[in-house]
Amino acid sequence: MRGGPVIAVDGPAAAGKGTLARKLAEALELPYLDTGLLYRAVGRLALDAGQDPAQPAQKFAQALTPADMQRKDLRTPEVALAASKVAAQPAVRAALVETQRRFAAERGAVLDGRDIGTAIFPDADVKLFITASPATRALRRFLQSGGNTSAADAQAQLGQMEEALRARDEADASRDSAPMCVADDAYVIETDTLDAQAVLAEALRFARE
Ligand code: CDP
Repeated sequence: MRGGPVIAVDGPAAAGKGTLARKLAEALELPYLDTGLLYRAVGRLALDAGQDPAQPAQKFAQALTPADMQRKDLRTPEVALAASKVAAQPAVRAALVETQRRFAAERGAVLDGRDIGTAIFPDADVKLFITASPATRALRRFLQSGGNTSAADAQAQLGQMEEALRARDEADASRDSAPMCVADDAYVIETDTLDAQAVLAEALRFARE
């Protein structure tokens, strides 16, 4: 028996999962886990060790500490790509399953990621899949990153970001081990025309159904 509900928030990169999951957790008074940080931390450790993140990385996943997940240097494009490469390895995913399940055991939780509703908690109480077009997501990531540059540079950076997001989504959706996909019983929220408040309202409506 779990001590509270589990809410799965899945979806592609920069769709607004983190923002939504944090607000949902606050509104429902549940603990929140950004599971992407687990994979980012493993990718970071592989890079630090001078290792190609596509090479076996389970030893980093098995030895992961809370401090590794609190590092300030996990939100770079280089680490996102490394995360996606270690995340494609079944042994890395296997090493992180229990950590995620244990997190929700005591009080329930809101977790955001790619496979929460499909692989980690197929029996989650509520499953949300948050998405938006690649152009919208690239723009959000660009604005998050500061976004103060000349118009020509901005255009070039946006194009590169969109390309990187598409490539990572493609890798996340096509890997053999727990690929990113929409659970049959998930509510899909398209966020192109919704701001964070509207996405939260929609998610709460589904959560309370
Ligand atoms: O913030 P963003 O959406 O860009 O990425 P993230 O959620 O921090 O995830 C980084 C990478 O970790 C993803 O591209 C996935 O390859 C991997 N990941 C995963 O495989 N499963 C999860 N539950 C969470 C992240």
